[in-house]
Amino acid sequence: MDIVLTGIKPTGTLHIGNYVGAIKPSIAASAARGVESYFFLADYHAIGGDADLVARATLEIAASWLALGLDPSKVVFYRQSDIPEITELEWILTSVTAKGLMNRAHAYKAAIDENTAAGADPDQAVMMNLYSYPILMAADILMFKAAKVPVGRDQKQHVEMARDIAQRFNHHYGETFVLPDAVTREEVATLPGLDGRKMSKSYGNVVPLFADSKALRKLVMKIKTNSLEPGQPKDTEDSALYAIYRAFATPDETAALRQRYAAGIGWGEMKQLLFERIDAELAPARAEYERLIASPQEVERHLLAGAEKARAVSKPFIAEIRDRVGIRRLVR
Ligand code: TRP
Repeated sequence: MDIVLTGIKPTGTLHIGNYVGAIKPSIAASAARGVESYFFLADYHAIGGDADLVARATLEIAASWLALGLDPSKVVFYRQSDIPEITELEWILTSVTAKGLMNRAHAYKAAIDENTAAGADPDQAVMMNLYSYPILMAADILMFKAAKVPVGRDQKQHVEMARDIAQRFNHHYGETFVLPDAVTREEVATLPGLDGRKMSKSYGNVVPLFADSKALRKLVMKIKTNSLEPGQPKDTEDSALYAIYRAFATPDETAALRQRYAAGIGWGEMKQLLFERIDAELAPARAEYERLIASPQEVERHLLAGAEKARAVSKPFIAEIRDRVGIRRLVR
């Protein structure tokens, strides 16, 4: 059985780019046979800003994944902070991780470079949790012997570091950890946002995943087009509307749309078509999401049940790891 594990950092609100690029394919993959999937909310990775936002995002993201069809009886779905063995493992891994390896992490280096460029102290406002981030992530991955770790391209280096750390530990203390591989979905094109640039929170051009029908329609109407009139043939290549439609539609639907572009579909009509397509796909999940947000006790129950499954693995494994590094009772 292949063990596949993904962490989701509870920050901010999800948008349709997160859905087509990560959530939808992950949920589909978790339903396949021959894989054991672990999904968790990486709440310890989110500490440092507003406390209420972390708590709120944890509920929202958990509710989103459940509403979109993640089946907690088929996967292990849990909250990182419910598994104390993960933070325990983090310290053990910290003890065998070279500082030089962490110096090379892109996210940490970017913070240092930014300070340096601004003429500030290189370490200004750099917290240890940024520096140690890859070690906590390694603990997440290694604890459950994950072989495959689906991540965005920006997280690939962290998975490689987890592999390095595991290798070093195994070399020193004997075969203990499975060496993980990052799985990046190169085939998933990034979704364009309202202004045609990559859909991203930092550009402020996103379509929120669970915007209600009215808000969704309004946003879709804002998506950038060109000045071609109805009846004039249109190019699918640089059309944000087309790219977003394709991300939601079946290949047949996309082929049909291509013909309508060639035949000169008007932008207003196209926007209505896109709105209807997205709305049709998301409306049921949106209703379920609203229901779950209003019943946090139900979400909590799923998370606690998931933690129980996860700890059935992490408790015996941390006992083995402690023994390997010499943390032992004096008398057995
Ligand atoms: N760092 C990941 C992100 O920002 C989230 C994450 C935390 C993660 N731990 C993980 C992803 C372990 C995969 C495996 O997206």
